[in-house]
Amino acid sequence: MSEARVRLRPDVASIVPYRQGRLAAEDAFKLSSNENPYPPLPGVVEAIRSIDFNRYPEASTSRLRDRLAQRWGVGPEQVIAGPGSVTLLAYLIWASCTQQEDVLYAWRSFEGYPMLASSAGVRAIQVPNRPDGGHDLAAMLAAITPATRLVLLCSPNNPTGPVITRAEFVAFMAAVPRTMLVVLDEAYAEFVTDPDAVRGAEELPRHPNLVVLRTFSKAYGLAGLRMGYAIGQEHVIDALRAVALPLAVTEVAETAALASLDHEPALLERVAHIVERRDRVRAGLLEQGWRVPAAQGNFVWLPTGERTAEVAAHFERAGLIVRPLGDGVRISIGEEESVEKLLRSSGEVVAPLS
Ligand SMILES: Cc1ncc(COP(=O)(O)O)c(C=O)c1O
Repeated sequence: MSEARVRLRPDVASIVPYRQGRLAAEDAFKLSSNENPYPPLPGVVEAIRSIDFNRYPEASTSRLRDRLAQRWGVGPEQVIAGPGSVTLLAYLIWASCTQQEDVLYAWRSFEGYPMLASSAGVRAIQVPNRPDGGHDLAAMLAAITPATRLVLLCSPNNPTGPVITRAEFVAFMAAVPRTMLVVLDEAYAEFVTDPDAVRGAEELPRHPNLVVLRTFSKAYGLAGLRMGYAIGQEHVIDALRAVALPLAVTEVAETAALASLDHEPALLERVAHIVERRDRVRAGLLEQGWRVPAAQGNFVWLPTGERTAEVAAHFERAGLIVRPLGDGVRISIGEEESVEKLLRSSGEVVAPLS
């Protein structure tokens, strides 16, 4: 008997689903998803313990929205929270692009961008990074056409690591049409130590076409609860509210985010440890002869070219789960105990590579 197949959108078959970094194996360090290696703070755990989740959450997450608005010096109507900043990226695409229009971003960058563009049925225009792993903003500018509705900038860039400098950003924004939406994805902003890096929140008042995207997943260690937010002009944020999935942010996540803000000094102390570890890892890798781009997130990038799978397998045998991505390996900065193991393994593979 022949099986009738349900008719689906023809382009869906060619979408490559999001692939998660490998989950932890026993006795291995999971350095594949740019997570925070520290366990949740007791104060944050305590805050969410007594939430009744037989009721729906408050749809506008007004407690968090108001708190974030105050923090960034904007109106509450300029902030929207979402279940992870990846969901807000989807809302941004839905709200700005129709099917014949383009979203433009650097490549390689966050794995979610191509997948979100294709699932929305919009065209993705990818502009290759500079050799140093940074965004090639001149080439991105040249790639803008009347069909470009949205540009995604990622600073620091996941997975390569460099930031966009303020000077580069300002020059870019001066050259793009004011009617075209630009998103500055700052998922790793708290790890940035480069004084020349662009700081999205400071740029917002000058650029009405800018949306800044932040997350509680990385520095604040709430990846498993899913909480991100966007800040921008009210009419843009209103458009995101219009397309948002209803009730997608749970009260548990909202409460944990608020508690994290209450405990920010303790969390930022952890961030400082990760940053110190990152700089130590990068220095060790450079000393071994690796060409590691500037690392301003909680990860480092090894340009391993065709030997990427082999190098990732080598790390895995040593008990380090890393993330092979096309022509390089991204390694998240994890527990202190992983550092020595990591540098030992990287030292073993660099010689045959060079
Ligand atoms: C650059 C970038 N943007 C957005 C995200 C999505 O993060 P989340 O949905 O956990 O907020 C990630 C996650 O890795 C990321 O690397």
